[in-house]
Amino acid sequence: MKEIKKVTWRSPSNIALVKYWGKRSGVQIPANPSISFTLENCYSETSVALVEKERKSKEIELRFYFDGKANMAFQLKMLKFFESVKKDFPFLNQYGLLIHSTNSFPHSSGIASSASAMSALAIALCDLKQELGQKKWSPEKFLQKASHYARLGSGSASRSVYPLISEWGKTKTVKGSSDEYAVPFARNLHKTFHNYQNTILIASSAEKKVSSRVGHSLMKTNPYAKTRYAQAERNLKEIIEALKNGDLEKFGTIIEEEAMTLHALMMCSSPSFILMSPATLAMIEKIRHFREESQLPIYFTLDAGPNIHLMYPKNISKKAEAFIAEELKSHCEKGKMIQDHVGKGPKKVK
Ligand code: DP6
Repeated sequence: MKEIKKVTWRSPSNIALVKYWGKRSGVQIPANPSISFTLENCYSETSVALVEKERKSKEIELRFYFDGKANMAFQLKMLKFFESVKKDFPFLNQYGLLIHSTNSFPHSSGIASSASAMSALAIALCDLKQELGQKKWSPEKFLQKASHYARLGSGSASRSVYPLISEWGKTKTVKGSSDEYAVPFARNLHKTFHNYQNTILIASSAEKKVSSRVGHSLMKTNPYAKTRYAQAERNLKEIIEALKNGDLEKFGTIIEEEAMTLHALMMCSSPSFILMSPATLAMIEKIRHFREESQLPIYFTLDAGPNIHLMYPKNISKKAEAFIAEELKSHCEKGKMIQDHVGKGPKKVK
């Protein structure tokens, strides 16, 4: 198979501080603004190669390999995504597509891979468009476009394209914000957050009980939806202040409130879901107790699953690591943890 062009990108996952949970009508139009730290060690690496087509038809010809193995489930998802964006990327029909993807984190670790996977793919598509000479964007516009297409694949993926931190969703609080793409936010970030630590404590690596898509849709009938969207706006405004000033207590209080709210919303949805496990609750109790005793700024957040994201500044790493080893590790499935921190954003792999 003759290869015409190939690009490879590494793009990270992210952890939301103010959560996106609920969509308005349209393709991934968020019901409220969200903000997240970009991670470093949890990433997807995706190469997209344009090859000569096998058939002369106009149909998209795609072969997708995950960890070196053909993966039909992912291939179908990707095909659906490509169908939705092909008018902006004519080469998707013109050439055959050979895509290889891997994740730096284990598949069964309960880490959401859609943010890293869809952002890596979207950036690769935008890059190919430039490489083929079909477009020339400024570096800022390039990332904005990548964020836009990443969003069409998975909402939270829109936030993964920027270094350190990014905001997604139209709000008066952030100038230039949009529902269509995320915006960079690093210039407003106090330096204490530039290398903020995130230890992911794997409470369970079981498959998610409910997909994000279904979870978001349950907000349509959730009796607290309106109150929640107003709370998210308030929390965004407040956390932005804390992020600027380096106010760790305010920052921590808000991320824990957001985590607990996300799970409370799921518990009172119809049907209802409990996504925490007994180990999650045991760790939350211990974190809060340790914080009170030690007066150290160690807080947690959660995704739509049982794993704990423990967040703390770099300068207390030693004490945090000792606490994790003594008190939390035994609650993790087979002692599994992933050490991560706020990261630099996507990278092109040569
Ligand atoms: C709880 O981005 O996975 O992680 O847009 O349907 O793909 P889709 O959903 P997704 O939802 C993420 C939800 C969350 C919170 C967040 O990342 O903001």
